[in-house]
Amino acid sequence: MQSKRGCFITLEGLDGAGKSTHVQWLVEHIAAQGITVVCTREPGGTELGEQLRQMVLSQPMHLKTETLLMFAARCEHIATVIEPALQAGHWVVCDRFTDASYAYQGGGRQLGGAAISALEQWVHPGLQPDRTWLFDVPLEVARERLARSRDLDRFEKEGDAFFERTRQAYHERAAQAPQRLRIVDSTLPIESVRATMREQAQRLIDAWKASGEPDA
Ligand code: TYD
Repeated sequence: MQSKRGCFITLEGLDGAGKSTHVQWLVEHIAAQGITVVCTREPGGTELGEQLRQMVLSQPMHLKTETLLMFAARCEHIATVIEPALQAGHWVVCDRFTDASYAYQGGGRQLGGAAISALEQWVHPGLQPDRTWLFDVPLEVARERLARSRDLDRFEKEGDAFFERTRQAYHERAAQAPQRLRIVDSTLPIESVRATMREQAQRLIDAWKASGEPDA
């Protein structure tokens, strides 16, 4: 019997918004419910994707090259990790996905949404996350948190205007898909962010467990 398709969850937010604080916690929370869950990230998630990540985060390049490399890594990731896992009935928690391309390349770098949408249609027509949590903080908070972290990559070194546009583009995505994309106020204490996520994740888990087989 074919297994029931897994649930695809993505986490998004500005660098410094606190996303990484919650990824592992969320994975453990889901696994504790007896669900097999794959934790992965973009750009990256495959051997080739990690090599592309290395390039795209460290060296300057044309904006179209940058965007294509994000989608090249994504294409490999979907084909070899995300889709096989979902089809096997496993859940996938992915640290960033295509919303990040809309936000960073589309918004931050001002490529606009149309090119991203065209690539999205080409690379993953029909695949969307079932739930996305957007960790949202004002720019100053993201900046302050980033200042405490390790070496900054090429994106993290961008100026305030870039991050304002990126945040704005994330908000536009959330407004277009409010069911899927939930904004989490990440200025709140970690425990209170987790309480919100725990409640929302539980609803997803319960609905998934109660749902029928794929063709039912
Ligand atoms: P991030 O996921 O924040 O990793 P870390 O936890 O190591 O900081 O960093 C990845 C960077 O890649 C981030 O600055 C956003 C950028 N990015 C894009 O610009 N477009 C994309 O499509 C993706 C997936 C990431």
